[in-house]
Amino acid sequence: MHLVIAIDGPAASGKSSVARALAYSFGFAYINTGAMYRAATWQVLRRGVDPLDEAAVAAAMEASQIVTGLNGLKESTITLDGDDPTPFLRDEAINHHVSNVSTVPRVRELLVARQRAYAERDDIVMEGRDIGSAVFPQTPYKFYVDASPEVRAQRRAAQGEGDSIAQRDRIDSTRRASPLMIAEDAQVIDSSRLTIEGVVGEIIGRLKLKRFPLPPLARLTRE
Ligand code: CDP
Repeated sequence: MHLVIAIDGPAASGKSSVARALAYSFGFAYINTGAMYRAATWQVLRRGVDPLDEAAVAAAMEASQIVTGLNGLKESTITLDGDDPTPFLRDEAINHHVSNVSTVPRVRELLVARQRAYAERDDIVMEGRDIGSAVFPQTPYKFYVDASPEVRAQRRAAQGEGDSIAQRDRIDSTRRASPLMIAEDAQVIDSSRLTIEGVVGEIIGRLKLKRFPLPPLARLTRE
């Protein structure tokens, strides 16, 4: 298996920007698992399936051709039945339903298998809710990026999105199948008063302490 840096955290904690920046500076692939659950939600909605009907959601995803990969920037991609849902992933309807679709165990199984497959081919930075706790529990490099509820609500509003993050956090944290949680051995970083660069710097510092094999390029740019 390749190197895996797991970054988990609640909605709008800044983990996407941090994970992308870290992956870019190390030359690792950046895997956005939230985008995969958002894509599944898009598929369920466009197939006219009730997102609250667990059995129907599972059946719709079983019947879908899910193809994951990497683009030229080494960022994760996904298509469903040949179609790319990227332009729709931040739509309000997706924000509204994604946490319900994500509670369905079969949906998680189908997507987690693809998430794990990425590490068979590349060193990766993977962000999500359950990466350190369930997808790659064995990686020693796991972080939980948090921020106060006020800061997170402000960040999401500044992105101009209609998104009830408190409601998503509640569903994500209380679901039975791999809920959002702080893995026992995760390092928690409060990003409330830090910039993206500040959080990335903090993570690199902590990786060094853990004797993480920093790629030569990353080491060069920091010396
Ligand atoms: O970027 P944001 O914080 O808004 O959320 P996201 O990372 O795009 O994730 C959207 C939703 O997908 C979350 O609220 C979870 O319901 C679900 N998700 C999950 O269940 N497991 C993951 N590993 C990643 C996301």
